[in-house]
Amino acid sequence: MTTLSSSDIRARFLAFFKARAHAILPSASLVPENDPSVLFNTAGMQPLVPYLMGQKHPLGTRLASSQKCVRTGDIEEVGNHKNLTFFEMLGNWSLGDYFKEDAIKWSYEFLTSKEEGLGLDPARLYVTVFEGDEDAPRDLEAVEIWKNYIPENRIYFLPKKNNWWSPGDNGPCGPDTEMFYDVTPNGLGDMTHDEYVAADDDGRVVEIWNDVFMEYEKKDGLVIGKLAQKNVDTGSGLERITMIVQGKSNVYDSDLFAPVMNIIKDTAGDLYDEKSARIIADHVKASAMLIADGVRPSNKDQGYVLRRLIRRAAIRAKKLGFFEKMEPHAEEYEYSYNVFSDLLSKFFELYEDTDYLGKVSGSQVSSEKHLLVLDEFKKEVEKFSKTLELGLKEFEKNTDPFVLATTYGFPIELTEELAAEKGVAIDRAGFDAKMKAHQDLSRSGSAEKFKGGLANTNETTVKLHTAHHLLLAALQEVLGKEVKQKGSNITEERLRIDFNFDRKVTPEELAKVESLVNGWIAEKLPVMRREMPREEAEALGAEMEFGAKYPDIVSVYTVQKPDDAYVSKEFCGGPHVTNTGDIGVFKIQKEEASSAGIRRIKAVLS
Ligand code: GLY
Repeated sequence: MTTLSSSDIRARFLAFFKARAHAILPSASLVPENDPSVLFNTAGMQPLVPYLMGQKHPLGTRLASSQKCVRTGDIEEVGNHKNLTFFEMLGNWSLGDYFKEDAIKWSYEFLTSKEEGLGLDPARLYVTVFEGDEDAPRDLEAVEIWKNYIPENRIYFLPKKNNWWSPGDNGPCGPDTEMFYDVTPNGLGDMTHDEYVAADDDGRVVEIWNDVFMEYEKKDGLVIGKLAQKNVDTGSGLERITMIVQGKSNVYDSDLFAPVMNIIKDTAGDLYDEKSARIIADHVKASAMLIADGVRPSNKDQGYVLRRLIRRAAIRAKKLGFFEKMEPHAEEYEYSYNVFSDLLSKFFELYEDTDYLGKVSGSQVSSEKHLLVLDEFKKEVEKFSKTLELGLKEFEKNTDPFVLATTYGFPIELTEELAAEKGVAIDRAGFDAKMKAHQDLSRSGSAEKFKGGLANTNETTVKLHTAHHLLLAALQEVLGKEVKQKGSNITEERLRIDFNFDRKVTPEELAKVESLVNGWIAEKLPVMRREMPREEAEALGAEMEFGAKYPDIVSVYTVQKPDDAYVSKEFCGGPHVTNTGDIGVFKIQKEEASSAGIRRIKAVLS
């Protein structure tokens, strides 16, 4: 078998599960659409939480996808052999359909089949299963199934810390069985339990796939019982499995990175250092993916992560000399930007088989996406380059990290890292206190969200969701039908909507909007959910967010008036209240410009 490319692996995975009656889902955006409790999708299952909890999925009970994910929890580890901020997760799901028997059989078949799968060597596979505790029994059932494929002495029992998976403190979870691959040159052969644990600790075996048997539910970190249905949730990191299949010892040598690493190597010449190169490659890719999914550098939430990634890459680029090698008369940032632009263009090529970054030779729209990524990246590098040199000088003088952050744009994490490299400690608590007082830069939301957590379906958020639909309808009634939603965000405290409108909304108009919304609330109107093909929903004129992507079958929420009339009709995944009477009192807090031709309203409920 010739070596499979990463594109082959992705395609084979989806074809394998399609052949086993799974519907193939497109990757959802990196930014969760209806889940304000997390900044990014961090696992393939994240967009599917409501369905794992029991809601009916329009495409059935067997699903598979390759989902874009971003994890920033161990950003400092990026640069070692397998940690990345952006990765794709291959996953297949059973929503109350098949369970352990098929899940395990198919995992094994896909990993080892030469015809349909990856053709990995079964003699290099090891498996772990849940050893059991007060929440769930020892998983002897999984062991019995595994014995059909793997010698029993290569199956190891491990505790919850290793073999239980949940995406956060609330939501679906369960025991899992994980597959590991021996990456040593001569093969490890049979190992005792302790030998196996040691091999895992020092990276001689690498986890390649996880099958979670999601039949339990967690609340506030505790397992509270079983779900109504038994689900399967599997996950395999594309980058890592590609590294294994291509026989590489680190992800950067696989075809998902090697061409980019080569550009960095050639450009840096004598200044090349592998760790900096890996950080640049990882961060440039993650930044491109985030920009393509609509994130823009800012001081908050997703935008702050993007800013941090680009600035971290810029610091490393400086180390490799990318800021020094100026063309005559060029601004410093121009040279470095040219290098970044070469790297970004290479990533555009590498992801040509997906729609993540647009098509290289494709339509106008796709090349616009490239230009957008290049442009946003450039703007941020430019902004940072102006203060990078000065900031580094200030850093050497032990300038207050607060000044470095606010005057020179050094994210605190970056200052901390630079300080750690010099063996200097940073007073993080002091910094945080000053920052808190500094109103413009509120990172607290981000910090909270890094902790993970599930779909925020708490009561206030659900009410705010429905209020958001009413607000859009009211804006259209007062300001005109041309008003369209251009962005939205809901937290536990407030809702925010961005919409096109080319002047300030007057206080009188805002008062009218507010009273319309409160009027609909007082009318206690029913909120109905219906599933239908996208075309049908479009034909019905249901509101959709400009630029957002929707699946073939969509759900539409309608706020109904008597006699088939309606206040609002919108494409939306929900959740919503079932009656507007449950919303409470609606109040607009603020109306302001968001960008050219786009206004922003923030509103709360009481
Ligand atoms: N959802 C399974 C995993 O991320 O491992």
